Amino acid sequence: MKHLIDPTDLSRQETDDIIALAQDIIAHRSQYSQRMCGKKLATLFYEPSTRTRLSFTSAMMELGGNVLGFSDARSSSVSKGETVQDTVRVVGCFADIIAMRHSVEGAPLVASQVSRVPIINAGDGSHSHPTQTLTDLLTIQRELGHISGITIGFCGDLRFGRTVHSLIKALSRYEDIHVILIAPDELKLPDYIKQDVCDRLGIHYEEVPSLEAAIPRLDVLYMTRVQKERFLDEDEYDRVKDSFVLNAEKMKLARPDMTVLHPLPRVNEIAKDVDADPRAAYFRQVENGKFVRMALMCRLLDWQDDPAHETPPSRKTFQDSTLHCHNSKCICNNEDVEPLYYRSADGVTRCAYCDTRIR
Ligand code: NCD
Repeated sequence: MKHLIDPTDLSRQETDDIIALAQDIIAHRSQYSQRMCGKKLATLFYEPSTRTRLSFTSAMMELGGNVLGFSDARSSSVSKGETVQDTVRVVGCFADIIAMRHSVEGAPLVASQVSRVPIINAGDGSHSHPTQTLTDLLTIQRELGHISGITIGFCGDLRFGRTVHSLIKALSRYEDIHVILIAPDELKLPDYIKQDVCDRLGIHYEEVPSLEAAIPRLDVLYMTRVQKERFLDEDEYDRVKDSFVLNAEKMKLARPDMTVLHPLPRVNEIAKDVDADPRAAYFRQVENGKFVRMALMCRLLDWQDDPAHETPPSRKTFQDSTLHCHNSKCICNNEDVEPLYYRSADGVTRCAYCDTRIR
């Protein structure tokens, strides 16, 4: 069975196939209106979300299928203390495919280990968000006509922004990608992405302190919201919340064919005066998200019984009772799951659920 927990669960070929199918859906929408007739999607959203949940719901409806689920875990048996594993075992009896969002990192991975239907990670903590990545890739493809060969600037909260982590991972599959990281010191990209993804897989990256200095070189500017809900210290949030703001003045420095993406919601990091600029692609990006989720659900169900499309074997993991994952937001510190570790290419031992450095 194929799940989508991490963007690298999809090969480059599978990713390109989903993007191509999304484009076919856009071109021939009515032909897909019965594609999921009789199928049910369960949306298990343990963390607030508007666009991602509605995007999944609308995608399934547009394919002729049905949707069930919850958008507030307090209204489900979770409030009685049910584990993620049990919830997924139960919901798998009612639905053909499950989209899960959770504030606990690694929760969708644990769900996939016991599920009898495909699991889609719709965002886990500040860890990963692979369907936003497919949305971003489709948007880049449609706006620029290609993904390989781009220079992309990531600006804002690169530390907690899961969409950034996932997109960089996925871009490592494409040729000749140049990444420019624009973030205050407190919000820099985590080391595991720099070392295990960029260094190991050959993504050329540089860190620059100023948006103005970077913007003229970019094909894509990926703006992000400072993730207030992930800060443990409110003063720290206040210090960094207004670090980078894109406005019409700064857009004058950009190339005429640059495209601006943002996973949304925005707070104040993109001024309203940018919205009318034809290079502002973030609202088109939202619609692309629906089409790519339609394509993804079609493919996960097409591939469900096909051995050629199994979820790749997980990394070589091991148990070690002398080790401990210090990430309080990791599933191994929130539910009764076996702590598991793996050794990344740089020789560092990491938690298999959240990628936190252990030693
Ligand atoms: C993002 C998320 O949830 O990580 N939003 C989304 O999925 N569209 C980004 C964010 O919340 O800032």
